[in-house]
Amino acid sequence: MHTKFKYLAITALFLSASSAVCAMDLTKAYDMPDATEMIKKDLFPAAKKYTMPKSCDLNDPKAIARGKYMFHNLNGKKAKKPAPEGLVKFVEKKGKDGKVKKKAKQFGNCVACHNIEGAKGAGNIGPSLESYKANFIDTNARDAQFVYQKIADPRIDNANTHMTVNLTTGLFNEQEICDYTAYVVSDKTKK
Ligand code: HEC
Repeated sequence: MHTKFKYLAITALFLSASSAVCAMDLTKAYDMPDATEMIKKDLFPAAKKYTMPKSCDLNDPKAIARGKYMFHNLNGKKAKKPAPEGLVKFVEKKGKDGKVKKKAKQFGNCVACHNIEGAKGAGNIGPSLESYKANFIDTNARDAQFVYQKIADPRIDNANTHMTVNLTTGLFNEQEICDYTAYVVSDKTKK
């Protein structure tokens, strides 16, 4: 056969084969389960308003130390310095085999988005939190309640925020949100 015709024949064969595949009803070839319930489980909980608990002691050096530790570290395993008193570094999780395993607790990774005193390689997706006390607390532009709410659920005053939701999602508990708040509003000028 002339090569030109050979190519034509091959092309024709390919075209008819592929159209045959297209005509097949592929919906029966694989499972198509109803995912509505699964998706519901993964949906983000609605934005929630919080009041900073009275138990939040913003002047407690231990709370500030824990907040600082979580602010600057990615998780409990990778953190190098010895953990401050009361910090949860590991969480227990039930594996598929039903056995309870110890897993490194993931911290807020706040430095990925915010600069602050002593931050290494801070990101700039969020505003710099450097000199926060002098610039925002002492000037009454912000108060601890605002900071607490922002860290707990930033969507209350900004529905389109790029910040992570920490309390409503259960990533952190009230005490940990207090620790973060205490650190952000603390005076970092004296060491
Ligand atoms: C993915 C990026 C991202 C991460 C991670 C993140 N933030 Fe934010 N944050 C933002 C953005 C963006 C804003 C500004 C928009 C807004 O207020 O919602 C913000 C705002 C804030 C503010 C309010 C500043 C002000 O006075 O207006 C505080 C306080 C804050 N973040 C603390 C934290 C803390 C503490 C963590 C760690 C638990 C954290 N952020 C993690 C992105 C992030």
